[in-house]
Amino acid sequence: MPKLTDRQMDALARKAWETWLFAYAPYSQFRVGAALLAADGRVFTGANVENPSYGLSMCAERVAVGAAAAAGVRSFAAIAVAGESPAGLLPCGACRQVLAEFSPDIRVLRCRPDGTYEQMQLRDLMPSPLTGYSISSTSGDKEELELAAR
Ligand code: THU
Repeated sequence: MPKLTDRQMDALARKAWETWLFAYAPYSQFRVGAALLAADGRVFTGANVENPSYGLSMCAERVAVGAAAAAGVRSFAAIAVAGESPAGLLPCGACRQVLAEFSPDIRVLRCRPDGTYEQMQLRDLMPSPLTGYSISSTSGDKEELELAAR
């Protein structure tokens, strides 16, 4: 993975805030935008999408991962997350697990409303995710998992 530049990170944070505008959050009134930088340089976005059956609500990060995965993308360098928390927002546990499935070493940009952001590593936020290997018992399964991840 090539080194990420400050310019790339700034652009990703801006994209997360742009997407924040599209959040559908009439129940919590808490908008979240995410911008996911793929290893091939493409950016996929996501916003939270709520529902009156609250448990059906989708987080911005997982919407972005879903869009990328459905485009055949499996490897990510960074994700910027924007929400109106003074300290910036971190992905919830479920989103950390889903990000770790594809890129356990992804960088996380915790965007603050003043336009600044803090950079963290998913590895530090989610040191021991559940992996496909944890639920497979034979080496055949391992090969299948490696193929599926391509
Ligand atoms: N939410 C996200 O989209 N991402 C996060 O990292 C935290 C929470 C959403 C879920 C819900 O629609 C709203 O924010 C309040 O929890």
